[in-house]
Amino acid sequence: MKLFVDTGDVEEVRKAAEWGVLDGVTTNPTLIAKSGKGFKETVLKICELVPNGAISAEVIATDYETMLKEALEVSGWHPQVVVKVPLIEPGVRLVRTLSERGIRTNVTLVFSVSQALLAAKAGATYISNFVGRVDDLSDDGMVAVADSVAMVENYGFESEILVASVRHPLHVVQAVNAGAHVATMPFKIMEMMFKHPLTDIGLTRFLDDWKKAGLSIG
Ligand code: E4P
Repeated sequence: MKLFVDTGDVEEVRKAAEWGVLDGVTTNPTLIAKSGKGFKETVLKICELVPNGAISAEVIATDYETMLKEALEVSGWHPQVVVKVPLIEPGVRLVRTLSERGIRTNVTLVFSVSQALLAAKAGATYISNFVGRVDDLSDDGMVAVADSVAMVENYGFESEILVASVRHPLHVVQAVNAGAHVATMPFKIMEMMFKHPLTDIGLTRFLDDWKKAGLSIG
């Protein structure tokens, strides 16, 4: 399973990349706006920090012609760039065009299996199924993830189901159990995945016992 960090903050990307478990980065217009830096500058810096990672950069237009222009612009910035496209009618058409040209895509704002099916048929590389925003409405966002994983596997689509809008580590565990291919999450959630009180208690005890015995390595 691939782990992506969902951020436009290059310092967060730098820290997550140092852990050696990062497969990519997702950004969106909100995250880029929050970074306070330029779009291209931020995306290029992230590409440098995560060599070989898949770095999603989203188009802004909502009409096909302008979306295509923007998609060709962002995909030309760096070979690692994956064009992020919203699941709207011109977006699905754009994904078909880009997949025929060998340009990778991440279809975003996907909430249902029917939407995921359209994205898969258009040749999406990643299908971003949002979970937290559905849970916020008292529904179970993970149901569509599990069903979409089954859909791509049953029909042999190459698209990977990417669990997005992750709010806590339990979402990551549920994504694993659903067989999702990727989970993207805020940096703070990735940090939380390290945490367990018994790890801290256990480490303190190991180090105390070692110190008391006066041992050393080498
Ligand atoms: C996905 O790529 C999105 O950027 C992201 O996961 C949205 O998460 P949110 O619902 O916390 O804004």
